[in-house]
Amino acid sequence: EAIAYDLDAPFNIDYHDSVGSTNDRARELAGAGHAGVAVVADEQTASRGRLDREWVSPPGGVWLSVVVRPEAPPAHAPAYTLAMAVAVTRACREAGVDARIKWPNDVLVGDDEGDEAEPTERGGRKLCGVLTEMEGEAERVSWLVVGPGLNANIAPEDLPADAGATSLLAERGEPVDRRVIVQRILEEFDALTADLRGAVDAWEEYADTVGRRVRVDTPGGIVEGEAVGIEFPGALVVDTGEEMVRVTAGDCEHLRP
Ligand code: BTN
Repeated sequence: EAIAYDLDAPFNIDYHDSVGSTNDRARELAGAGHAGVAVVADEQTASRGRLDREWVSPPGGVWLSVVVRPEAPPAHAPAYTLAMAVAVTRACREAGVDARIKWPNDVLVGDDEGDEAEPTERGGRKLCGVLTEMEGEAERVSWLVVGPGLNANIAPEDLPADAGATSLLAERGEPVDRRVIVQRILEEFDALTADLRGAVDAWEEYADTVGRRVRVDTPGGIVEGEAVGIEFPGALVVDTGEEMVRVTAGDCEHLRP
């Protein structure tokens, strides 16, 4: 289906059939002073994932980057990313897919326990990741670009083979209306970011990570233990058996019990 981007959403839509990266386009717009804009593309040719990883973006996805100019310090940026993961999770659930969140911001379907569809050792198949970028001073963010990539109407054969990825189409067996998905994501993100502490609480409601044994590869080394909760603006609290560690950055792996 064509994505008609004349949506009744709380952001102005900058739509592209094909673009290098919606995050790059959003950064340009942010640098030129725009705010309240959402860049959407049917296809990306140079999309980026977290930690400089590649991100596969064929036609049919929801490739989205939102520009916001919050009155907030850079330290609060993780809460915007969590809010986006919650917004995407809600939109996926409304589309009938049982989405949940792996810390910090991967939206997954399925889990380790009793899932017949051969979950990966990473704890579930990935529907969506979020790449957040920002510019700002120590006390105040100048702009934030929050970019979710949601595998929406991507056929199973077009998904990256090795990365445990899935799509809404693969899970439902029929395509979604991407206009509805984009609109719901933007509405939810707008509402959630009006109350960032509430957004972090909502994140915990959908978290697949909390209550599990995890191994987190952090810049300061490996942290392993039970994830017991999340703290504003986004730290994962891990009980190692010896101490409570607050992890603010890293790659999280769900361990089998
Ligand atoms: C991850 O590594 O999990 C994050 C992936 C983020 C991909 C999205 S797609 C829309 C936006 N534009 C990009 O170039 N990247 C993000």
